[in-house]
Amino acid sequence: MQSDRGHWGSNAGFILAATGSAIGLGNLWRFPYITWDNNGGAFVLVYLVCILAVGMPIMMAELLIGRRTQKSTVGALRECAGRWWGVFGVWGVLCAFLLLSYYTVIAGWSLYYFARTAAWSAGGYPVGLATGDLFNAQVGNAGLQLVLSLGFSLATIAVVWFGVRDGIERLARVSLPILFGILLLLLVSALGMSGSGQALGFLFQASFSELEAGSALSALGHSFFSLSVGMGAMITYGSYLSRKQSIVKATAAIVALDTGIAIVASIIMFSVIFSVAGMTEQVGASPVGMLFISLPELFYTEVPFGVLLAPLFYILVAVAALTSTISLLEVVTSYLIDEHALQRHRATLLSGAAVFVFTIFAALSFSGTPFLSSLAVFANKTGWFETVDHFVSNVMLPTGGLAVTLAAGWFVSRRISHGELVDGNQPGWFRYAVWLGFIRFVAPAAVLAIIIAVLLGTDFS
Ligand code: TRP
Repeated sequence: MQSDRGHWGSNAGFILAATGSAIGLGNLWRFPYITWDNNGGAFVLVYLVCILAVGMPIMMAELLIGRRTQKSTVGALRECAGRWWGVFGVWGVLCAFLLLSYYTVIAGWSLYYFARTAAWSAGGYPVGLATGDLFNAQVGNAGLQLVLSLGFSLATIAVVWFGVRDGIERLARVSLPILFGILLLLLVSALGMSGSGQALGFLFQASFSELEAGSALSALGHSFFSLSVGMGAMITYGSYLSRKQSIVKATAAIVALDTGIAIVASIIMFSVIFSVAGMTEQVGASPVGMLFISLPELFYTEVPFGVLLAPLFYILVAVAALTSTISLLEVVTSYLIDEHALQRHRATLLSGAAVFVFTIFAALSFSGTPFLSSLAVFANKTGWFETVDHFVSNVMLPTGGLAVTLAAGWFVSRRISHGELVDGNQPGWFRYAVWLGFIRFVAPAAVLAIIIAVLLGTDFS
């Protein structure tokens, strides 16, 4: 069975794969719109503090627990922190399962917009097109949604089928450099636009008077989402790591790349938006649609070389989403391999098919389907998709994150965590003490603050 677990082929391959997990719709879609929603500046600063003070120590904790035990979420927590911590591992697997089920639907939209923009680039953009109506027609078309998400699910399953080194790592090695390249092209193009100065000001000039009470907490919630922590995905990736890799250095690289890409994506989008008269109001009304409603048209009317860049951009979104969906499926698959002694191929098909059943529910949420479109469990959330999204981001991620901090800080022995975090024969006590302080006190306090805010009714989704 051991051979079915797999191992990373190289240190760089692991860093790319973990960065691929972190970079996804969270960076290209979610971060820009919540930053817009929260007035930029001060929000970005608070987000950076959350990444450094909470996200980074938790990522190190997850990686160290995974590498130490060489097991996936459930087995790793059980072995490292104590028997009943396995329950939180199961919670993480369920969280990955649910997140994957609806994340796939949004990822499917990027395929649709890739096809659309490719057709427009070849045949001409229909000037005056109502992009909001196009979007609604797209999500409301049940058959189309099923085809798109089935296509994306199959792509995810295909990669995980080939395993850690030949599937996940190989895809990351090829696609991440391409993703960085396309983003760089877009950045250059965006910085040349008239609105770029305003975009940079919006992002980097902090005015704390505009920061709303709930903003700090949504920054914290998003830092978890963006780094892929709180559900054991990094435990699983850590379990394929060799002792030769430095967890601290790897974490620093992953966090820097993930945060950098989120900021670059925002610079690009905001530069375009600020360059067009009237666009700030349009986006202001529904920032969630920035990526799929405002941007498609602007590529053809505003962005230099937009005809070339538009299809490239939506392929980039799809690829970024794929390197995230594979890590979500890997959480479920590796659980079946480790805890139920399934072969990788069987485990992949079984978990992929099970998740897809729930993807169907999410995909049909926007087309007037009985129950799925009208389900109302949480206030202001209608339909299966919104309900599950709310449950994952407001309930599962914060509680899962809290469990990981407490397990790593208080239940994993210091001998183990010190041994994993300190490289070679350096003593490294200072570095270790800093991490321990954050993981024991700062991170749990911050996460508790989110949970309390959720209980008081703040919404993070
Ligand atoms: N980090 C991913 C993104 O930004 C989303 C995500 C959250 C994720 N948790 C995860 C991906 C766990 C893989 C594994 O889009």
